[in-house]
Amino acid sequence: MARTVQDYIRTIPDFPKPGIMFRDVTTLFADPRGFRMAIDQLLHPYAGLEIDKVVGLEARGFILGGAVAHQLSTGFVPVRKKGKLPGKTVEQGYQLEYGHAVMELHDDAIDAGERILVVDDLLATGGTAEAGIKLIERLGGVCIGCAFVIDLPDLGGRSRLEALGQQVHALCA
Ligand code: PRP
Ligand code: ADE
Repeated sequence: MARTVQDYIRTIPDFPKPGIMFRDVTTLFADPRGFRMAIDQLLHPYAGLEIDKVVGLEARGFILGGAVAHQLSTGFVPVRKKGKLPGKTVEQGYQLEYGHAVMELHDDAIDAGERILVVDDLLATGGTAEAGIKLIERLGGVCIGCAFVIDLPDLGGRSRLEALGQQVHALCA
């Protein structure tokens, strides 16, 4: 039977902390059919829409977002963990499924009114994506959608982003 995107993802128990079932997408990225399928499916809802930039969320959102931006012929902008971007930034703190962190975006990376697609590998609590959206909006960008390979629905990320008026696209649970 034909393999789906989900078939290429493995789950590793107790990483990075006991009790976390870690969804490991490196096995998806390493497979040429799996990786292409994931990028094609991430793009699908956005065909024909006006998109100025893709924002990828550190770290696996860089790999997916870079490929998506290439396909859409848009620019790519990274949202990074604090301390990694060399220029002037805006920053936003957020809670993770397993910790707390601060995300940053270069303050000249997005122009007011630009239409932005946010890409990451996984939606859990939605804290990371919400931080990314807030940073984009602080620069005047308009988030037209958030695309993920995996949605963990029990952690509430989708409803959290939808409550912010965001459109969520995910390939598997
Ligand atoms: C993972 C994942 C998302 C985020 C989702 O990244 O890649 O970015 O968690 O969780 P949330 O919806 O609860 O915010 P992680 O924090 O492990 O960082 P990394 O990609 O830099 O390892
Ligand atoms: N980020 C937050 N929760 C995660 C999980 N279960 N697997 C991979 N990345 C995650």
